[in-house]
Amino acid sequence: VKVKKAFKIGKAILASRIFGAKTPIAASIIPTNRCNLRCSYCGRWERPGPELSVDQWMKIILDLEKMGCGHLSVTGGEPLLFKDLDKILAEGKKRGMSVNINTNGILLPKMKDIFEIVDSVTISLDGVKQVHDSARGEGSYDSAIRAAELTRENNKPVIFYTVLSKINLDYLAHVAILAMSMGGRAFYQPGTYHDFDGLKKNPMAPDVDQYRKAIDDLITLKKGGYPLGNSISGLEYIKNWPDKAPLKCFGGKLFLRIEADGTLRNCGRDGHLEGPKVDEGLEMALSQLSEPGCSSCWSAARVEFNYISLGEVEPIINYLLK
Ligand SMILES: C[S@@+](CC[C@H](N)C(=O)[O-])C[C@H]1O[C@@H](n2cnc3c(N)ncnc32)[C@H](O)[C@@H]1O
Ligand code: SF4
Repeated sequence: VKVKKAFKIGKAILASRIFGAKTPIAASIIPTNRCNLRCSYCGRWERPGPELSVDQWMKIILDLEKMGCGHLSVTGGEPLLFKDLDKILAEGKKRGMSVNINTNGILLPKMKDIFEIVDSVTISLDGVKQVHDSARGEGSYDSAIRAAELTRENNKPVIFYTVLSKINLDYLAHVAILAMSMGGRAFYQPGTYHDFDGLKKNPMAPDVDQYRKAIDDLITLKKGGYPLGNSISGLEYIKNWPDKAPLKCFGGKLFLRIEADGTLRNCGRDGHLEGPKVDEGLEMALSQLSEPGCSSCWSAARVEFNYISLGEVEPIINYLLK
């Protein structure tokens, strides 16, 4: 199955690079923008907006399968707040996709059935308890750790996701050490200069020099064998933040994102809050989606995806060794 999947991915990448073909092998969906936290660098919860129904998501997942999607990442808002989320996850699984959820972990202990469906769980963790709680809310560190332990107990890979902000640069190793003790991985990415959708300034954006020094420290950790999800090339790339750093983007070609109201986007960082709606079918919406046009990419996962699609050897090996 793995070889078959790898062949499909390779074929989609080549078709995209040679002919500009659109085969969304990875999709990220946002069932809801609602959230049970109010993290200081995230403005998503402030704009909950309308939501698609479960039936609409079922149809989208069918479209994704037809278009060759092999990986479904479910994020938010807090995805576990979406009623009947399990139906969406199960449909993705049934349609042959690997399924990941990105969560703050709070609700996971009440929704253990989800472990029977998902392939991996991404949990946001910003550093030690005091630092994490001050960015993400009192008690949120304990919830994240409990969720990671549960994930481990259920034999699913734990992936930590850390946003670099002005308060956690001295505590990044804590996350890598935890990831190592749990047999998981830790991804790091810069906090945006603006909030998540670029609408107001991110009050937690770090000092640039201190940020770059912290990235050097992460590269040292990576070379020292800590299980960072970022490749060394990926870390060197995000070290450019916030300066412009052009990178070929496969958004809208090999990956895409669907917002809670059915708006199709290249990814969550492309700056286009408007976009075609998937109501008339995903294929139609994809044909109407504008090119990304970003001057840089500050999503750790997208940077890795773009490097892999460009055939960069070290990120490919990093991905295969995960
Ligand atoms: C928007 S959250 C949704 C999933 C879930 N609620 C959570 O927090 O894990 C997805 C990821 O984006 C990160 N994030 C939020 N605001 C950000 C910002 N301004 N810059 C960079 N990453 C951000 C979060 O820390 C989280 O890892
Ligand atoms: S980062 Fe996640 S948990 Fe925090 S407010 Fe945003 S959506 Fe909620």
